[in-house]
Amino acid sequence: MIQKSFVMMKPDAVARRLMGKILSRFEEKGLQIIGVKLMQIDEELAKTHYGEHADKPFFDDLVKYITSSPSLAMVIKGEDAISTIRKMVGATNPLEADLGTIRGDYAMDTGRNIIHASDSPESAEREISLFFDEDEICEYSIVDNVWIYE
Ligand SMILES: Nc1ncnc2c1ncn2[C@@H]1O[C@H](COP(=O)(O)OP(=O)(O)OP(=O)(O)O)[C@@H](O)[C@H]1O
Ligand SMILES: [Mg+2]
Repeated sequence: MIQKSFVMMKPDAVARRLMGKILSRFEEKGLQIIGVKLMQIDEELAKTHYGEHADKPFFDDLVKYITSSPSLAMVIKGEDAISTIRKMVGATNPLEADLGTIRGDYAMDTGRNIIHASDSPESAEREISLFFDEDEICEYSIVDNVWIYE
């Protein structure tokens, strides 16, 4: 099934200049980038986005981390995009993430795990509408290796 996922390079990915490498992985896999936005996430948005973790001991640190400097918010589309991207991202703890995954290759610490990806169709819908206006998403299809605007 064609799905859209919300994916976000966290502040450490941007600060470590990994944006291009990580974006390339999604493009090379065959997924379609249909929205991209560099943004400084404020405390309110961080708390809403990660609301399911509000009672966890790491919540305050998580909010500080996510609001510490700009993040790159993305909407990525493709066949089974949600589970495909979660596989590409790897386990939450980068030390447990398989090599070849983004966290497995580029991170060492759960509190600095460089990327977020939606974990279900419900979260994807909620997160996309939380971060993107409809007119910030460009849907297009491919014909003869050329992307055609729908
Ligand atoms: N034990 C922990 N210590 C510090 N930070 C944590 C811990 N557990 C989770 N986090 C942070 O909170 C984020 C959300 O945790 P969650 O359980 O939703 O993992 P995830 O779904 O793999 O990550 P994300 O939602 O960012 O894609 C993690 O990505 C990480 O940044
Ligand atoms: Mg999560």
